Amino acid sequence: MQVHVFENAQQVGKAAAVLFASQVMRKPDSILGLATGSSPIGCYQELIAMHQAGVLDFSQCVSYNLDEYCALPQDHACSYHTFMREELFDHINMKAHFVPDGNAADLAAECKRYDAAIQAAGGIDMQLLGIGRNGHIGFNEPADSFTYGTQIVELTESTIQANRRFFDSEKDVPRRAISLGIGGIMSAKEIVLVAMGEDKAEAILKTVTGPVTPQVPASILRTHPHVTILVDKAAAKLL
Ligand code: GLP
Repeated sequence: MQVHVFENAQQVGKAAAVLFASQVMRKPDSILGLATGSSPIGCYQELIAMHQAGVLDFSQCVSYNLDEYCALPQDHACSYHTFMREELFDHINMKAHFVPDGNAADLAAECKRYDAAIQAAGGIDMQLLGIGRNGHIGFNEPADSFTYGTQIVELTESTIQANRRFFDSEKDVPRRAISLGIGGIMSAKEIVLVAMGEDKAEAILKTVTGPVTPQVPASILRTHPHVTILVDKAAAKLL
């Protein structure tokens, strides 16, 4: 695991974009694993700028997102479908992009279908991750064991509170989500995790130096052969 500490959040976004841009240049038909939340936005802005400047072409790339809320319409302002359209897909030329369907009539079947689709595409070449304050990745919350495949998860109180800021009121925050499992994330050939702000300092400390435990889902990344963690000074404060 490589950890790079930057002066500020903007540099974290630029550094993540450098890794993704070089991935796409080296392998134009890359399968990219994408994430939502405020942390990846800087990276997406840099990738959009490179695309618009004519130096980065996504026309052969396919992307799969980590997660989506359940029981929230896809066109809802807070859905991850909407987030990805607004923050990235509307501004670049990705060949195809997929986000799991949190409204599928048969959610168990959707979980299986999503994993099978990623596998059939050849697996994720580079996975972008944020991290929750409790160490969650995707929506894999602290638990007694690591998850494997894509699954339906109950969000913890800490995640509901953290995501409340995007919704009109707390009761509007969905309680369930569909998320790639830890096994799916770990299957990516390369993983890039970005974190900024003091809120993330404890999760980063536990991820980088604590025991590998499902109580801190991101700690499993220490067992992956190719992980890069990009953080600003505030998120690195406790390291
Ligand atoms: C949500 C997402 C995660 C993300 C986390 C942190 O829970 N499911 O993928 O990493 O939020 O979000 P932020 O980057 O806004 O702090």
